[in-house]
Amino acid sequence: MTALTAVTVRVPAKVNVQLAVGGRRPDGFHDLANVFLAVGLYDRVTASPAEELRITAAGRDVASVPLDASNLAARAAALLAGRYGFEPKVRLHIEKDIPVAGGMAGGSADAAAALVACDELWGTGASRAELLGMCAELGSDVPFPLVGGAALGVGRGELLTPLEVGGAFHWVFVAALGGLSTPEVYRACDRLRRESGDGDTVAEVAAPAAAPALLAALAGGDAYALAGALANDLQDAALSLRPELAETLRAGVAAGALAGIVSGSGPTCAFLAPDGDTAAKIAATLGPSARVAASPAEGATIVP
Ligand code: C5P
Repeated sequence: MTALTAVTVRVPAKVNVQLAVGGRRPDGFHDLANVFLAVGLYDRVTASPAEELRITAAGRDVASVPLDASNLAARAAALLAGRYGFEPKVRLHIEKDIPVAGGMAGGSADAAAALVACDELWGTGASRAELLGMCAELGSDVPFPLVGGAALGVGRGELLTPLEVGGAFHWVFVAALGGLSTPEVYRACDRLRRESGDGDTVAEVAAPAAAPALLAALAGGDAYALAGALANDLQDAALSLRPELAETLRAGVAAGALAGIVSGSGPTCAFLAPDGDTAAKIAATLGPSARVAASPAEGATIVP
């Protein structure tokens, strides 16, 4: 058997069609009912043998990608190697197309892709369950890009149940300049809850749950019903940190979107269009920062 010289894995971005955030737990995380939908915007991660762990990156927003051990893809490679008792002697080259720190889980996607690529390169043969376990250790949003499609994430968002999707959905994504820090957005959500007098702890906030109407809209492939059911409990928090996003949301709907929502912790805004042609027209109206993508998309896949 010849040793592999390089393995490339393609991995999708996600949009949260529902992000229901429960109270702050004693460990600082929040219980979620997180409905993930994979969208056809992809990063590619190529793993190849090297003297030591090294990250390189190319593509969109590349200046914002950390190239040191703090990169979640580097941590993924080190975790897998450590689990099997060897050194992570690998170069990971990340081709970015997913907005960086945009609320579309690009960093998490790269980590999931790095695990799959290194597992193949090293022939470690980790099971799907082991890979998913390592993804969950790396971050709450890391397991989903491994599986793709659509899924409900509970717990911190890492415990996934696949969901049925009955048709294609067409999106326009508008990335904002500069990212938002996920912990900062959760802290803003807690602050808004305390200021409203409702409190922010698990004892004070209703347990999060997926909305039956939203799950039915996904299963039925019904864009109009999905538009009416889109919900993000982090949206007000993201808007409190970046008030100009409200104008972006208004502009997308004025351009013909059925609905607009902040994606995850933001600042990317996601607009649902009735069809692909309308999505292209909305993107043309919104300008060069707008991208079209369809969902669902398949999870991390080795490129032949
Ligand atoms: O799991 P991950 O490392 O992606 O989480 C990043 C940060 O987002 C956490 O440190 C926490 O502040 C916040 N978070 C949270 N509740 C979740 C997921 C993330 O509070 N369910």
